[in-house]
Amino acid sequence: MASLLKCLSLSGRRIVASCVTLRCHSSLTDELIENMDKKTTWDRFYAESSSRTPTFKNFEWFFGFEAVQDFIMPLLQTKSHSDGCLKVVDIGCGTSALGPCIYRHCLLPVWVTCADISPIAVRLMQEHVQVKAIQPHNLSSQLEFVELDCMRLHKYYGSNSVDLIVDKGTTDALLRSKEGKGKAGLVLNQCLKVLRSSGTLLQFSDEDPDARLLWLETEAQEPGVMEADVGVQEVGELRGVCYYCYQVTPRLVVQQ
Ligand SMILES: C[S@@+](CC[C@H](N)C(=O)[O-])C[C@H]1O[C@@H](n2cnc3c(N)ncnc32)[C@H](O)[C@@H]1O
Repeated sequence: MASLLKCLSLSGRRIVASCVTLRCHSSLTDELIENMDKKTTWDRFYAESSSRTPTFKNFEWFFGFEAVQDFIMPLLQTKSHSDGCLKVVDIGCGTSALGPCIYRHCLLPVWVTCADISPIAVRLMQEHVQVKAIQPHNLSSQLEFVELDCMRLHKYYGSNSVDLIVDKGTTDALLRSKEGKGKAGLVLNQCLKVLRSSGTLLQFSDEDPDARLLWLETEAQEPGVMEADVGVQEVGELRGVCYYCYQVTPRLVVQQ
């Protein structure tokens, strides 16, 4: 049933449409429209979605791995450093198969961390991968699911330690919440702190480039402390909605 939400954008109108299909309580629909920055909203969402199906099914916001693999996998074809695995983090992973697919398909050894603020989503994924026993292409690769508020990413990872961060719908969810704008800025700031200088943050979103590029360019610059290059590519159109891949790469700041 959750798959019926596939490809739907985060705008209020579409959330209402998806919630009608999912037969969510109207109070959950209201919560999703205004409070997608809140842990309690997502706990309720994943608890209600999973209680409706006897067998686990990944839930994908917008689309799945197939739609975005060409943006992700080329970034994981060369090792940027000599010390072990490439490090990848899916921030706000929910119960998406994105992280497990990266783990499965990456030729080089990769350590994929799927992080979410909702312990319910994290538990569902831990149970799912245990049952499914996904085999990685590279036997040195690792996959983990952690309950983590991504506004504290830097507490979990050291500076300059992550190669790739993927964000499918998470920043959108924060930016569109009543009290989430500041949180989205904090998450971006934390991502830039933990990314290697050769690393990349990819945000998959339906937000128009006029708005998102301006926001990224403003939020990712702190003169003398943090700077980043920002770009955008079109992912494609699905059911009349255009989706984008925003790339953010940290720029080395030369201390004066
Ligand atoms: C729109 S859903 C996207 C889920 C998933 N990425 C996908 O593609 O299906 C947003 C996700 O972000 C998570 N989230 C919201 N705020 C968060 C935070 N501060 N830290 C980590 N995860 C967060 C929610 O629990 C939810 O799973």
